Amino acid sequence: MEVVHTIPELRAAVARARQAHQTVGLVPTMGCLHEGHLALIRQAKAEAGFVVVSVFVNPTQFGPQEDFAKYPRTLAADVAGSSAAGADLVFAPATEDFYAAGASTWVEETRVTQGLCGEFRPGHFRGVTTVVAMLFNAVQPDLAVFGRKDLQQLAALRRMTRDLLFPVRIVVHETVREPNGVALSSRNRYLSPTDFTKATAIPAALAVARALVDGGERDAGRVRAAAVARLAAEPALRPQYCEVVDALDLTPVNQVTPGRTILAVACHLGTTRLIDNADLG
Ligand code: PAF
Repeated sequence: MEVVHTIPELRAAVARARQAHQTVGLVPTMGCLHEGHLALIRQAKAEAGFVVVSVFVNPTQFGPQEDFAKYPRTLAADVAGSSAAGADLVFAPATEDFYAAGASTWVEETRVTQGLCGEFRPGHFRGVTTVVAMLFNAVQPDLAVFGRKDLQQLAALRRMTRDLLFPVRIVVHETVREPNGVALSSRNRYLSPTDFTKATAIPAALAVARALVDGGERDAGRVRAAAVARLAAEPALRPQYCEVVDALDLTPVNQVTPGRTILAVACHLGTTRLIDNADLG
């Protein structure tokens, strides 16, 4: 597996793959790869001949008070993990080799990014859509794989791909979970062992909501209230939002339509922010 740091090297490697008639898959990451990322890479490899993993801690998606400076950088381990999971190329650019000096162009989705995390992380999704558009242009993949845990990111990237006519197929991978049910996230490494146990209240709240819907409940307010109560049973958790939303446009709904409604949750635990979601029905 090759590791490249510049766009000309990346383009040359992808061109060689194209000459060999390989389809190209992209797995965008910010590094600090865990089993969830490796599952995305394996999925990409199952669907494309040549798989590029980008490792880039994107400064434009972090707010001024967020953890950009302390976000873990673990390139050597990321390269080893990518290779073991079947990647063909790791693209790990320096910020100054990726963003043009004085870059002043943004890609912004303006509908599905309004509520949920968008309300609490102004500018975050604009940074995500901009950097993924840049990656799509740099790599020109046939497909790109994203995890379902980042529900709103996925919705924004789907819209961006559709609206801006990127010829890229978006492949979705289910959320990968720890044995205790907590969704895998690079930020889990900030949690103490005690907090890691306390974080199980989040998947427990999702399970309570799902069980209610499976039992026939369709009132979104009651489903939401049950999930909120389960979160509140763990006093260390500070919920930021807990919303029952439409699966397509992520706006709050009054009624649960099984298969078309999602419960989305964001909580702080200590200084760590955790998100998760579940299909209802
Ligand atoms: O999900 C992430 O890790 C990032 O938001 C992404 C998609 C790699 C863009 O920086």
